[in-house]
Amino acid sequence: MGAVNVLAASLLLALVYSLASASDPSPLQDFCAAINDPKYAVFVNGKFCKSPNLTTADDFFFTGLNVPRSTANRVGSNVTLLNVDRIPGLNTLGISLARLDYAAEGGLNPPHTHPRGTEILLVLQGTLYVGFVTSNPDNRLIAKVLQAGDVFVFPVGLIHFQFNIAKTSAVAIAALSSQNPGVITIANAIFGSNPPINPDVLAKAFQLDKQIVEDLEKKF
Ligand SMILES: *[C@@H]1O[C@H](CO)[C@@H](O)[C@H](O)[C@H]1NC(C)=O
Ligand SMILES: *[C@@H]1O[C@H](CO)[C@@H](O)[C@H](O)[C@H]1NC(C)=O
Repeated sequence: MGAVNVLAASLLLALVYSLASASDPSPLQDFCAAINDPKYAVFVNGKFCKSPNLTTADDFFFTGLNVPRSTANRVGSNVTLLNVDRIPGLNTLGISLARLDYAAEGGLNPPHTHPRGTEILLVLQGTLYVGFVTSNPDNRLIAKVLQAGDVFVFPVGLIHFQFNIAKTSAVAIAALSSQNPGVITIANAIFGSNPPINPDVLAKAFQLDKQIVEDLEKKF
């Protein structure tokens, strides 16, 4: 193989790798606890890294995830996401954790996506109807009813939801393959954007009466 071919092959490999890499970039050192003040930082990889000699156990620590969260809101659920903003030591490590609380009889974690993370969810208590929808053109719903002890995976980027169908409250724990998976709640993003999307756009996209779109935009 000539030098040009080798170069072309390596470029192709690099491209394939970058397309196939679905999680955060690998750390280039043991850890990199995030710090907001660059005065104490040594270098950047996602967020500024705190100098290792100033990094302590508390950079890798969070307490209180055992405490139930309030679900007294419109959807009847509460997500406590421990991303790099809550646990600085997660910086560059490509992982985060969440506690999810669902109100009895209809607590809903509404359809949403994580643009940067796959999610694996463990039900600790209750009964959840969960699912995700595959991308175009199939838009196939892959859904299941989960009980305590059941685990389900939501692939990166796909729209998914969890719905409490039992008479008791439910709790789940989820791990996500990013230090900052991000969340886009579909209804909020579409009908509650700031400033609002022109109702003509949404009326046509959702095949709805413009008045209904305007009502939805008010709600969100
Ligand atoms: C900690 O590391 C920084 C460089 O990142 C260095 O300037 C400083 O002297 C070190 N402090 C101690 C106590 O070792
Ligand atoms: C989630 O629970 C916490 C603690 O109970 C509460 O402060 C917060 O307002 C709740 N969030 C929502 C969206 O209900």
